[in-house]
Amino acid sequence: KDNVLILAIESSCDETACSVIENGRNILSNIISSQIEIHKEYGGVVPEVASRKHIENISDVVNEAIIKANVSCDQIDAVAVTYGPGLVGALLVGVNYAKGLSYAWNKPLIGVNHIEGHICANFIENKDLEPPFVCLVASGGHTHLIYINDYGKYEIMGKTRDDAAGEAFDKVARAIGLGYPGGPLIEKKAKEGNETAINFPRAVIDEDTLDFSFSGLKSAVLNYIHNKQQKNEEIIAEDVAASFQQAVVDVLVMKTMKAAKLKNCKTVALAGGVASNSSLREALEKECKKNNYVFLKPSSILCTDNAAMIGCAAYYKYLKKEFSDASLNAIPNLKL
Ligand code: KG4
Ligand code: ZN
Repeated sequence: KDNVLILAIESSCDETACSVIENGRNILSNIISSQIEIHKEYGGVVPEVASRKHIENISDVVNEAIIKANVSCDQIDAVAVTYGPGLVGALLVGVNYAKGLSYAWNKPLIGVNHIEGHICANFIENKDLEPPFVCLVASGGHTHLIYINDYGKYEIMGKTRDDAAGEAFDKVARAIGLGYPGGPLIEKKAKEGNETAINFPRAVIDEDTLDFSFSGLKSAVLNYIHNKQQKNEEIIAEDVAASFQQAVVDVLVMKTMKAAKLKNCKTVALAGGVASNSSLREALEKECKKNNYVFLKPSSILCTDNAAMIGCAAYYKYLKKEFSDASLNAIPNLKL
């Protein structure tokens, strides 16, 4: 069959999303229903609230994706769904809905790892991209440096030992009173600040590893704020945001380039929510140019959580007939 249509569902965190995608790379529809406005009130994602909202939204989101794609159910070749990592209650909504569709339509079910989905966002916008390439996945839950050998073959070269990059953005944002989600708000504040104002630590851990650590940086920012408050000195949120953001970007760029050099791999890609940060995009692009590497970055809407990326990952599993059965379960700490 030369025209494979996959319907994909994503519900691992606070976005209920569904996409219909053709041959893994051509988006026919990409519906994302964000719960950000609801979780904002609580300063972060409340798992129980997220699950309930997914239940309320999922039928509408799936129906809208089918209508937008202008396809009928019998044209769909497989149903894909994120089954981890993520919030268990949130994942279960998508997994069970996908199982229901797969059973009702009598189409294969394909379980997809959320991190694999983030990586695959690069295939959608770069139609000629083929492995091998090095990808930095930086999101709210993960910071991974991955070498993609082949479709579906991943070597984890480094990962965070504590906080994820996005998590650090969210926590620092809260500390300087910016709210949730922190990443975009820090980015905005940082634009009016001086990134050399405060010298926050660049945690490289040691020379031999590509692992990351962001909890030290986060603590340094919190200590800085605390000290200023105790001395009754003014805190310039713009400078804190810019200096913090620069510290994160420096480490991410340095380690990503190191990973590419180690593999002698001249294609570098970005993925995950933090990948929509323009400072990071610009800095990595600059380094890649300097070294004559190809640099790839999905557009913002494909960096943050969406179902098109899940459908893309599922397509390569479909080609290999890597199907799941009705026993597919949500795995909150699923590894790549
Ligand atoms: O990939 P994603 O949507 O969900 C997860 O799988 O975690 O990533 C969400 C994370 C949040 O921590 C958010 O603050 C961060 O990505 N983020 C950003 C930006 N946009 C989203 N971080 C920095 N700069 C941004 N522009
Ligand atoms: Zn994600």
